[in-house]
Amino acid sequence: MSEIRYVLNADRRRPGEGADLSFVSREEAERARAYHRTFPEYRPTPLVPLPNLARDLGVSRVFVKDESHRFGLNAFKVLGASYAIGRYLAWRLGEDISEITPGRLAAPDVRERLGEITFVAATDGNHGRAVAWAAQQLGQKAVIYMPKGSDPIRLANIRAHGADASITDLNYDDAVRLADRMAREHGWVVVQDTAWPGYEDIPTWIMQGYATLAVEALEQLREHGAEGPTHLFLQAGVGSFAGGVAGFIASALGERMPAIVIVEPDRADCFYRSAEAGDGRPHAVTGDLNTLMAGLACGEPNPIGWEILRDYACAYFSCPDWVAANGMRILAAPLQGDPRVVSGESGAVTCGLLERILGSPGLADARDALGLDEGSTVLLVSTEGDTSPRTYREVVWYGRCPGALDRP
Ligand SMILES: Cc1ncc(COP(=O)(O)O)c(C=O)c1O
Repeated sequence: MSEIRYVLNADRRRPGEGADLSFVSREEAERARAYHRTFPEYRPTPLVPLPNLARDLGVSRVFVKDESHRFGLNAFKVLGASYAIGRYLAWRLGEDISEITPGRLAAPDVRERLGEITFVAATDGNHGRAVAWAAQQLGQKAVIYMPKGSDPIRLANIRAHGADASITDLNYDDAVRLADRMAREHGWVVVQDTAWPGYEDIPTWIMQGYATLAVEALEQLREHGAEGPTHLFLQAGVGSFAGGVAGFIASALGERMPAIVIVEPDRADCFYRSAEAGDGRPHAVTGDLNTLMAGLACGEPNPIGWEILRDYACAYFSCPDWVAANGMRILAAPLQGDPRVVSGESGAVTCGLLERILGSPGLADARDALGLDEGSTVLLVSTEGDTSPRTYREVVWYGRCPGALDRP
């Protein structure tokens, strides 16, 4: 059975002493949340306490922010796509985002001013569904390219929002390049959740959009009597999600910033490898990126997310698929008295890892290095529900990707 590996950050910075956090300041995050609030579908997603799991693992508290309830789309991704499209259209109209609502953008006079726009993205599914949904809400078009091996159900869910979607024979990073090329050829607008030189505005807005869930989580933690987490586990594909959330949390909590732990699949562990290289630069992983964690199958870090995670994360973990599968099972069959969370492959890996760090004698050094103990309050984000129902059943019902129990 393959191993969990990790690298600690020997050069972790304090907020203000590393990468610039102003684009995910509290003010920017509140601006994004204010825009999200104008959608009729907006509701904060639940923050689920798991007190019995916490007791079993020997920490004070474990909370899971359950993004399967986000806008009825089963994943957090719409926070980014909707905000980036809103900001882009506000820019085209010469207005501030605070003056924009989805209803106004869809109104006939505004649509006439904007003309017909086609948004294009490359995605394993969740981001594409989000772009397709946001475009549909505004009466605009979307074209979505998916990497090879994508689940046909995820394709169907994107098409259900009227998008022209297809599964290519490319990996994620090459599908992104295809989206960019097609946009140039056809005059489409790329809404990609990663940045590259000269393409930074939209990914920045996407990261700001993701901060909405962190604003909610801090408020919800306070309702539970916690000023903030001591430990925050964030899964990373290109690192826009982790960068946006970690950046906001570092900016908002300052000296009380939690220990931030970055978690990736071992087949697409570009942050782990970049941290291991130790030269301060992002390093890519190439090839098929063939992992159960479809949403995290990205080989090239978003440079904006990289700078934040390079400076403010305290550890980077590279996890085999069975860790994600274990996380799905732990959340699906909770200890008695804890609520159940339906969490998909990319949503559950942090829970699977937390259980291993606290439960496996082989990872005791990691537990000590992270300072995880009976005083810890751990925040996890289940970024998706059962977005592939078949995979969910294979893992949870039929035991696909088994782990081995090595604690008493
Ligand atoms: C469910 C889920 N979780 C996490 C992520 C990771 O986000 P990012 O690629 O910004 O690191 C994704 C990305 O698609 C996802 O779909």
